[in-house]
Amino acid sequence: MINDSIDYINTYTESFSPEIGIVLGSGLGELADKYNEFAIPYSDIPHFVSSTVSGHKGQLVFAHINDRPVVMMQGRNHYYEGYSMEEITYPIKVLRALGVKTIILTNAAGAINKSFQPGDLMVITDHINFMGQNPLIGPNDYRIGPRFPDMSEVYNKNMIKIVDAAARHLKINIKHGVYIASSGPSYETPAEINMARIIGADAAGMSTVPEAIVANYCGMDVIGISCITNYASGISSKKLSHEEVLETAAKVKNDFMKLILLLLENVK
Ligand code: HPA
Repeated sequence: MINDSIDYINTYTESFSPEIGIVLGSGLGELADKYNEFAIPYSDIPHFVSSTVSGHKGQLVFAHINDRPVVMMQGRNHYYEGYSMEEITYPIKVLRALGVKTIILTNAAGAINKSFQPGDLMVITDHINFMGQNPLIGPNDYRIGPRFPDMSEVYNKNMIKIVDAAARHLKINIKHGVYIASSGPSYETPAEINMARIIGADAAGMSTVPEAIVANYCGMDVIGISCITNYASGISSKKLSHEEVLETAAKVKNDFMKLILLLLENVK
């Protein structure tokens, strides 16, 4: 199955072997527009499914950024769109097979931690899978990873240090925190966010965790960066909307892009 996708992608990429993958979350797709050398729509790639959400395009974008060969997922698929966990994480396995060793997962998230504010960036130090599903359920392919993969360090500590150093250099005050993913598409209730805070979460979202589990399972180094786009439900009295998420992401995207560019210089 993976070979079908790789064979198709290889018709574009004979001499292009990406080392780093970046999954661009809601409203953060501009990096791909800016550096695009060539792009392959998900709908053309065997076994890929296409995103149905506004703010998400749905293509693999190949580029050299600071001389590093990079593949970007401009838009991701979400569990709440009705796809299976396997479908939404399939591209991660394909990126691994293309040679990607380090993956940067980005998303928009709501602030649970009261010291965070919309517009902050947060490096993910760990996650809580509250989606009620795991992308590795089903027969295991031992060529890709083990049956019972360790998850004690999904987000590589060394990479977190590199993110911190890059943020310091750029004078971006980056937060650290635990990301909790629920399935969506409804936003959380105040009671759910209160529970999430009590069990140790700092930011809430509807993505990233399935991809992080699969990337770790495949042996990739994972970096997670959340753009805090709003206060989570009940943290402020304001009602949540996707428009607000996209608006804040648009304000932060310059810092976000600067950070990614510097990371690309510094990650191995
Ligand atoms: N909750 C869940 N997902 C989100 C949020 C939120 O508050 N903001 C952006 N994505």
